[in-house]
Amino acid sequence: MYETRVLSGMRPTGALHLGHYHGVLKNWVRLQAEYPCLYFVADWHALTTDYEAPGQVQKNSWDMVIDWLAAGVDPNQATLFVQSLVPEHAELHLLLSMMTPLGWLERVPTYKDQQEKLSDRDLSTYGFLGYPLLQSRDILIYRAKYVPVGEDQVPHVEFTREAARRFNHLYGREAGFEDKAKAAVKKMGSKKARLFNELRTRFLEQGEVEALQRAQDLLDEQQNLPRGDRERLFGWLEGSGKKILVEPDALLTDSARLPGLDGQKMSKSYGNAIELRDEPETVAKKIRTMPTDPARVKRSDPGNPDLCPVWQLHLVYSDQERKDWVRRGCTTAGIGCLDCKQPVIDAVQAELAPMRERAQTYLDDPTLVKNIIADGCDRARKLAGETMRDVREAMGLSYS
Ligand code: TRP
Ligand code: SF4
Repeated sequence: MYETRVLSGMRPTGALHLGHYHGVLKNWVRLQAEYPCLYFVADWHALTTDYEAPGQVQKNSWDMVIDWLAAGVDPNQATLFVQSLVPEHAELHLLLSMMTPLGWLERVPTYKDQQEKLSDRDLSTYGFLGYPLLQSRDILIYRAKYVPVGEDQVPHVEFTREAARRFNHLYGREAGFEDKAKAAVKKMGSKKARLFNELRTRFLEQGEVEALQRAQDLLDEQQNLPRGDRERLFGWLEGSGKKILVEPDALLTDSARLPGLDGQKMSKSYGNAIELRDEPETVAKKIRTMPTDPARVKRSDPGNPDLCPVWQLHLVYSDQERKDWVRRGCTTAGIGCLDCKQPVIDAVQAELAPMRERAQTYLDDPTLVKNIIADGCDRARKLAGETMRDVREAMGLSYS
């Protein structure tokens, strides 16, 4: 019914590192060529935890956008924007907060987890409880179908699906829905109307998923049908009310996990990260001083790659031949650890060099970045405005 949009956001945590690149950004770059994509800076989400010291949020946001661009996110393909510059998100958040049961929010696993993890801050706030609510509005307001996220965010996408369902259930049931739906079918012309009704019956009575799919395709083709009618029919087809908001799916990233320099998850706060804009000397030094298999004290001691974080990097960066070379050389003490690290250093340098160059263009001329975000915000606001118009109407607030 709506175009298949992809949406994802990131909290502005400052300079991004290779973990972000391999875990998220590479995926974003791939998707931008396949779908209309919206990528945004979740600066309000940063404030849910950093409200006492928001000083860094803006700088971190600009830095993060530069890193996106450096990594190959292309503003000519994807729409890049900043959450707080599209205030429609807040309006939807407010309206939908009316119908969100408290229990739903308290049950989201990240709520208690994060409170425990960030125990130095007072997170028993209204805003923090609303974190998943705010996230769901980011998604729903663009009627996004796919949300590329990591495993930890899946509960938030699930929450979003429930919220969309509840909204459609509460407000998609307008007076005279059945009659309006039937009148809408007639507008398709008698032949298609008959086919549509038949497919609908087959789905509702026999549960034929294939019939549902065909009926949906048929509706997709009815570009002349007014949007309200199509929303109605998509809902009626499945025996529900109008589908005003779209239930999204999480798109799990299957890309390789890139561990940090110590083998733990790469994270700025653990001090084990290679940042996208690290200087070449810094990169080389970080990898040269990486810990290796602790049993390999002397050059003549054989080692075990499975106990060595450098091996994890070979898994990402090396072909089979080089991996064989590492395994053989390590276990027979045929190569030293510095020999082993050199190809990784070269591969990371080759990966980062074009990023550094692109980043420099934007650092030299910050207005380029400002313009990209201004354009993206305009586009986002337009899309968000369309949804808000339908939402206001469904909730009886159109005042026209
Ligand atoms: N909560 C997400 C994170 O921490 C960021 C985020 C905010 C987001 N809004 C979103 C991700 C909407 C996807 C879609 O990573
Ligand atoms: Fe690790 Fe390579 Fe040294 Fe083996 S040779 S311990 S895999 S760095």
